[in-house]
Amino acid sequence: MRIGVLTGGGDCPGLNAVIRAAVRKGTTVYGHEFIGFRDGWRGPLEGDTMPLDVQAVRGILPRGGTILGSSRTNPLKIEDGVERIHTNLANSGVDALIAIGGEDTLGVAKKLFDRGVKVVGVPKTIDNDLGATDYTFGFDTAVNIAMEAIDRLHTTAESHHRALICEVMGRHAGWIALHAGMAAGANVILIPEKPFDIDRVCAYVQSRFKTRYAPIIVVAEGAHPLEGQMALQNGELDAFGHVRLGGIGESLAREIEKRTGSEARTTVLGHIQRGGTPTAFDRVLATRFGLQAIDAVHAGDFGKMVALQRTEIVRVGLDEATRELKTVPVSRYEEAEVFFG
Ligand code: F6P
Repeated sequence: MRIGVLTGGGDCPGLNAVIRAAVRKGTTVYGHEFIGFRDGWRGPLEGDTMPLDVQAVRGILPRGGTILGSSRTNPLKIEDGVERIHTNLANSGVDALIAIGGEDTLGVAKKLFDRGVKVVGVPKTIDNDLGATDYTFGFDTAVNIAMEAIDRLHTTAESHHRALICEVMGRHAGWIALHAGMAAGANVILIPEKPFDIDRVCAYVQSRFKTRYAPIIVVAEGAHPLEGQMALQNGELDAFGHVRLGGIGESLAREIEKRTGSEARTTVLGHIQRGGTPTAFDRVLATRFGLQAIDAVHAGDFGKMVALQRTEIVRVGLDEATRELKTVPVSRYEEAEVFFG
């Protein structure tokens, strides 16, 4: 079989580990051939390919990003996009695809599967917001990067008696904020799933200052206050219709200063959370996903996504994986709330 591989959406640490595992097992155990499609769905859409063999995947296990490149191209938004993909797959002699991506990339994979493309999906996102899998790779790395940053903010916040706000990614899910905030002992964690009460946040800040211990507030980019949207959204949409988030950290700092009279500053971690080398957890999870994805392709079990459930890698329908966003449950947030203030 000739198998095409692509990585779509925002990149995340561990993508190369998936590619390496699928190519290594697919070649040496099953005798398949591989071809890389560049920049997510743009590759098959435009017939942009690159060689992908065992030699090409040597040494990439610890490397962040993706050797295939990525993009947020949505072929379903392009007239004759699906037909062009069919034509280009046939022209490249590709029998099946492994699509590594988040809800958008896998949503496209599902629709292409419905239209006859043989595809297996692999869940990727630092946001950890995909249903049907307990974890996505990239999340653990992002949490560790954010945790280290928050640890560092603690010491400088104390020296200067400031409230420091750390804005983290996660889009409409608060997983990164929750885990990083909990791991690093944040004063308060604000997530999109629970609109926050600014009076309460300021009370936490003031009580922390009273103990001569500077407050650290971890805020997810999608968090918003009870009384209305405070995030500074520029309104720009990507090809999948997602608004670009950001700005809530700055708004929060201004509001805290105004209400408490204490100095407040914001650090926006941004794409640093997605860069660099994956943690051991993400390398192992990504490797296991890659191995299971090639097993699914070899078995002809298409229209599936590999998923982590407890400690096992299982196959679930692509529709199940993309049906709804996995957000932070109330009970998980309540665990963290014990430490607020
Ligand atoms: O989905 C991953 C993610 O990093 C989100 O946490 C974030 O909102 C978004 O991608 C940022 O996207 P971009 O790469 O377009 O800046």
